[in-house]
Amino acid sequence: MTANKKLLVLPGDGVGPEVMQEVMHLIDWMDRKRRARFDLAQDLVGGACIDARGVAITPETVARAKEADAVLFGSVGGPKWDKLGFDMRPEISILTLRRELGLFANLRPAVVLDPLVNASTLKPEVVKGLDIMIVRESTGGIYFGEPRGVETLPDGSKKGFNTEVYTTAEIERVARVGFDLARKRQNRVCSVEKANVMESGLLWRQVVTALAAREYPDVELSHMYADNCAMQLVRNPRQFDVIVTTNLFGDILSDLASMLTGSLGMLPSATLGAIDPTTGRRHALYEPIHGSAPDIAGKGLANPMAQMLSFAMLLRYSFEMEEDAKLIETACTNVLASGLRTADVMAPGCAKVGTQVMGEAVLREMEKLGG
Ligand code: IPM
Ligand code: MG
Repeated sequence: MTANKKLLVLPGDGVGPEVMQEVMHLIDWMDRKRRARFDLAQDLVGGACIDARGVAITPETVARAKEADAVLFGSVGGPKWDKLGFDMRPEISILTLRRELGLFANLRPAVVLDPLVNASTLKPEVVKGLDIMIVRESTGGIYFGEPRGVETLPDGSKKGFNTEVYTTAEIERVARVGFDLARKRQNRVCSVEKANVMESGLLWRQVVTALAAREYPDVELSHMYADNCAMQLVRNPRQFDVIVTTNLFGDILSDLASMLTGSLGMLPSATLGAIDPTTGRRHALYEPIHGSAPDIAGKGLANPMAQMLSFAMLLRYSFEMEEDAKLIETACTNVLASGLRTADVMAPGCAKVGTQVMGEAVLREMEKLGG
C-alpha cells in the first residue's frame, strides 16, 4: 500500500499534544493492519509556535497545510499568551488556516451517545438520541468583514467596530453543504440568522429560500432567528436535524449545542473548503470542539475521544473511508458503554481512567470489532 494520504498534524497547545498522541497510535494501528497508510508531517501552531518562532503560525506551515490532503488540528491557546496583542494571539493560527485554505463550512455535530445520556445537564428524555449537525459558515461574516478596527474619536474616547457581511455566493455555498448533508440524514434544514434586525440576515434568508426552491425542493427548509434558535435548542433540541448559520451565530450556537451532550470532550468537527474542479479535492481541517484546557494540560486527564472522532470525520469526509470512520465511532461508544470514563464524563459506578488508558481501550475495541 502506498502512503498517498498526506496528513498535516498540528497538535498545538495544552491538552492538544496529549490527545493527538492517541490518534498517532490509531494511525500506527491502521498502518499495521494495512487498512491505510498516511504520509505524515507535524508542525507547530498556536502558543507553541509563538514561543519557538514568534508567530502563531508561519507561512511555511500554511503552505504545507495547502499541500496536504487533510489537516488534523489539536487546540491552541492558554494563559501564558493571553496578554499578547490581538493579532499575535494563538487563536490567529486557526483563523489564518480557515481563511487561507478557504475552509468555509464548519461542520459541528452534537450527538448524544446512549451511554452518556446522563452526562447532559438536561433531562435524559430531552436529549436521548440527539443528533444535530450545525453547519457554521467560517470564512466570512463579522469575523472577517471590513471595515473593522478601533478608532479614537475627537473627544478622545474610542470606537470599536466590526462588520457583518455576506454575499450571495458565500451564502449559497455554505447552504449547499447543509442541504447535501441533510439529504443523507433526516432531510431537514433550519437556516438561522437575524433577518428581523440585520440586512445581511435578510439577504441570508432570501438566498437560502431561493436556493432551496431551485436545487433542493425535496429538503424540508425552515428559518429561525438566532435568539429563538438558542431557546429552542435548550427547550426541544431534537426538533433539529441540520442547522445552517453564520460564523458568529454558529460559534455561539455550536457551543450551546455541544453542552446539550454533556461533554465537550466528546465532540469532533470538520471544516471544509470548496471542491477543486480540476483535482476533485477539497481542503479540509479536522479538530475537536474543545479548547486547550490549560487547567488539566500535561496531567494525562483529557478525554482523547473528540480528537479520535475528529480523525474519524477526516477518514469519512477527506478519504471516503466510511467503514473505518464507523469502526472508530463504534469503538468509542462501546468503550463508554463498558463503563470506562475520563473525568469529564465520569458517572457513578464507572471506572475513571486517563487519556492513555482511554486511547488504548478504543484501540483494543477496534481490534475486537474485527478491525
Ligand atoms: C471556535 C473558537 C474560535 C472561533 C476561536 C478560537 C477563534 O471559538 O472554533 O469556535 O471563535 O471560531
Ligand atoms: Mg467557539
